[in-house]
Amino acid sequence: MSGLKTKHPVIAGLDIGSTKVCFVIGIVNSENKIEIVGVGKAPNAGIRQGVVVNIEATQNSIKKAKEEAELMSGYQVQDAWVGVSGTHIKSFDSKGMIAIKNKEVSQADIDRVIEAAKAVAVPADRQVLHVLPREFKVDTQDGITDPIGMSGVRLEANVHIVTGGQTAINNTIKCVEKSGIKINSLVLDSLAASTSVISEDEKSLGVCVVDMGGGTCNLLYFVNGSVAHTSVIPVGGQHFTHDVAIGLRTPQVSAEQLKIEHGYAMAAQIGENEVIDVQGVGGRKSRSIPKKDLADVLEARAEETLNLIQHDIKMSGLLPMMGSGVVLTGGASQLQGLIEMGEFIFDIPIRKGVPSGVGGLSDVVKTSEYSTAVGLLKHGFNANKDEYLKQSSTHIITDSADSITKKMKDFFGQIF
Ligand SMILES: Nc1ncnc2c1ncn2[C@@H]1O[C@H](COP(=O)(O)OP(=O)(O)OP(=O)(O)O)[C@@H](O)[C@H]1O
Ligand SMILES: [Mg+2]
Repeated sequence: MSGLKTKHPVIAGLDIGSTKVCFVIGIVNSENKIEIVGVGKAPNAGIRQGVVVNIEATQNSIKKAKEEAELMSGYQVQDAWVGVSGTHIKSFDSKGMIAIKNKEVSQADIDRVIEAAKAVAVPADRQVLHVLPREFKVDTQDGITDPIGMSGVRLEANVHIVTGGQTAINNTIKCVEKSGIKINSLVLDSLAASTSVISEDEKSLGVCVVDMGGGTCNLLYFVNGSVAHTSVIPVGGQHFTHDVAIGLRTPQVSAEQLKIEHGYAMAAQIGENEVIDVQGVGGRKSRSIPKKDLADVLEARAEETLNLIQHDIKMSGLLPMMGSGVVLTGGASQLQGLIEMGEFIFDIPIRKGVPSGVGGLSDVVKTSEYSTAVGLLKHGFNANKDEYLKQSSTHIITDSADSITKKMKDFFGQIF
């Protein structure tokens, strides 16, 4: 029977963040679900606010993270779905219109109308990353999500187009290719993250996903199940760490450690008598300080960041459509007390988003900092489902063909 053993399609996600590079490998199991089989993580100093500032450093981090994931999984990977984010991302609405061929909408018509919507003038220094359909209109009927099979003569599409700065994108591509990885496609980080942290119901009710990373907060708004708006706030976890380093006069490395181990966003909830050790700068001795002092510093930055997010939501004009509220994800959303503070600041519901919907080593990737990497796998699988499932059946045929050849060889070997 071993010849009929299924070889599962392998799929990989590469998240090149401002603080870390994360490489995740998954397989598509026999129930067509993704199982995580390998995870690799390496610190990265080559990216600032989503933009490559040092190609070699980024390339080394990518290689390291990939090797670690390959070692853990036992799979060698050639290609990956790669995330992009940063202040260079911009998005806008567009429309396309075509005449329906054969009086009934087919997939080819949908492809053509999306192409027509994409044909808007995009400046030479920007690259289109996604064309995300919002709704279709067949003749006078609007609000259609899936027009296939509908009768009519004219098909219109309202789409949301996401673009990135050409230079930033070219440098990301260069880092990945120089690391020996073929890019399946570039995917907006927050779009990938949303695939792993929110449900279809939340998308339908309206939700704002905030990927709080090291250098930036990337916001993605869903209205009626599809992406309606994106924005970037140039504040992330590194700003919290920097405040702690300055406020408590301690090196960045220990500020980062203090934030993660003892940090809290609401100072009022910290007991007066709790103390922590803080390392001095420039060879000065460590000293004990009230834990509340650390929380005071973090509270100011947390409040400012959440207010900036709230302001962005108000300015987007989409607040009344955010029935499912705000979902905070990304490494910086893990600051203790942040969600509680958000409950005071926001008028809409708030929760933390962690990756879900994958099997295998799901425990290793169940924290918010893996939302993008896990989302890249899920997004990649959804975008190319037919191809991955075909690989699975091809492998079965190849395996069985191999096993038949082997059996024939064994058989003839016994005769001669
Ligand atoms: N437990 C924690 N409490 C507070 N902050 C945390 C915690 N864990 C991680 N962080 C912060 O999260 C940030 C990194 O988040 P993440 O890994 O999502 O960023 P990134 O993907 O590298 O960056 P970006 O998405 O901005 O390019 C760091 O600033 C780190 O200090
Ligand atoms: Mg990130």
